[in-house]
Amino acid sequence: MRTPSLTSTTSFQALENHAVQAEDWEMRDLFAADPQRFERLSCEGAGLFLDYSKNRLDGRTLELLAELARERGVEARRDAMFAGERINNTENRAVLHTALRAPRGSNLIVDGQDVNADVHAVLDRIKTFTDAVRSGEWLGHTGKPITDIVNIGIGGSDLGPKMVVLALRHYAHPRLKMHFVSNVDGHDMDAALSQVDPETTLFIVASKTFTTAETMMNAQTARSWFLERASAQSADSALAKHFVAVSTNLEAIKTFGIDPANMFPFWDWVGGRYSVWSAIGLSVALAVGFGYFSDFLAGAHDMDEHFRTAPLEQNMPAILALVGFWNREFLDAHSVSIAPYHQDLNRFPAYLQQLDMESNGKCVTREGEPVDTPTCPAIWGEPGTNGQHAYFQLLHQGTDVTPIDFIAALRPAHEMEHHHTALLANCFAQSEAFMKGKTIDEVRADLQGQGLSAEEVERLAPHKTFPGNRPSNTILMERLTPSTLGALIALYEHKTFVQGVIWNVNSFDQWGVELGKVLAKKIEAELLGESQPKDGKLSHDSSTNGLIARAKAAF
Ligand code: F6P
Repeated sequence: MRTPSLTSTTSFQALENHAVQAEDWEMRDLFAADPQRFERLSCEGAGLFLDYSKNRLDGRTLELLAELARERGVEARRDAMFAGERINNTENRAVLHTALRAPRGSNLIVDGQDVNADVHAVLDRIKTFTDAVRSGEWLGHTGKPITDIVNIGIGGSDLGPKMVVLALRHYAHPRLKMHFVSNVDGHDMDAALSQVDPETTLFIVASKTFTTAETMMNAQTARSWFLERASAQSADSALAKHFVAVSTNLEAIKTFGIDPANMFPFWDWVGGRYSVWSAIGLSVALAVGFGYFSDFLAGAHDMDEHFRTAPLEQNMPAILALVGFWNREFLDAHSVSIAPYHQDLNRFPAYLQQLDMESNGKCVTREGEPVDTPTCPAIWGEPGTNGQHAYFQLLHQGTDVTPIDFIAALRPAHEMEHHHTALLANCFAQSEAFMKGKTIDEVRADLQGQGLSAEEVERLAPHKTFPGNRPSNTILMERLTPSTLGALIALYEHKTFVQGVIWNVNSFDQWGVELGKVLAKKIEAELLGESQPKDGKLSHDSSTNGLIARAKAAF
């Protein structure tokens, strides 16, 4: 059955009318009118706390948004996802990253296959392998323990593991140094190889498809580098000590020359950007150990349970999604800034870029019709206080409204308490400043108090005025631990899911990256001189032809 267009739904139209009333709302007034606003517009779940009171909305807005979510079938689609139905309709696949973090014994049979048993069989292998490497029992080809691990992957096979390893650096094994190579730019591989020793390095080739051009080129380069330096013994036995693969593609791994015994599999129902919970998280398990990796999965599972069972009005991922939807549709927010007030989350905005923008950066519905409202905003950000001294100027006084997600841990993982107090003070002060702003009268009073002349006051006042009324969410956790990090990532996964259902896009394909890949192959052949222009005619537009010509002249 065709899904009605978003703008034709009763609940969307009710929201449109409501948005007209809300147009003049000032958050300052909303706070003044309701002393319970913070209690009313905040919620908790899976070790996380979400304050969404600093948004331009009220209780009625939330009711209408929840009605919209129901009318769009969010609950039914959520249940279909958890049950393993093929909700990825353009690739005819189930979407089961939630199954990767379900405890052993959870019953999930999909197409006659015991998914839970499959998942835990791979987890058992990950435990055995990571225990051996971490304890020093797994030795390189000259008998030395592993000291360096190089994860070769890109997109979801890089961003998740890299972000999590950084975020959990306090839990990491002291002997193991982690490296991540993703870019086909040789400088990336060069930087990693210049730091490692072939006798003590383990390479993980992480690729769901095992066909991704960048990863394949990087893996071949690492293999050649290793073989050129490996001490005399059979290549296969040396490689077997230093190369493992994480993939769904057994045949391609064999062709590459990796021992199938060194392959950690996963399944087509795990999307690349949802794969850190699968064997793609091998580098995480190596860094922090299987125990903490299990805690990471358990934290995500807690959020899954919250998402699966909490009513939409108290459901943290649903609320985050609905508030984001409101800001996108009715406040015309073109982008969302992610501001982790935690240095160890410094790759989190980059991780969310793929999660959100690859999932919901779509312009047609699941049925292939053009969408009738804007969809995913651009996602970007940097750790909090650094952003304050760079682009926050625009967020405070620029012409666009950019909602911000502040993320902080109440307790640090270090003992410099005064740093942490200053950090939290900055985080809370920013959300207050975005909400309240500073009126021209307040600015005038300040300047007069400083003894400035009336003329100077009038000259400076407009520059020092802050419009305020700018929306933000604040997400707090007690500490950044494997479990709260798991819950945080799952929170955003489900937020992305809910928004995708409301927009009626397929959040689980990514056809938009294909065209560039195809054209790059063609141009690479032209740069190498392997393919020649037909009938003497250059095959691109004048810009692309010109760029190719300049590059060829420089070779
Ligand atoms: O090209 C996009 C993409 O397919 C992402 O969705 C994926 O995470 C990334 O490439 C890497 O893919 P693979 O793990 O198959 O190498």
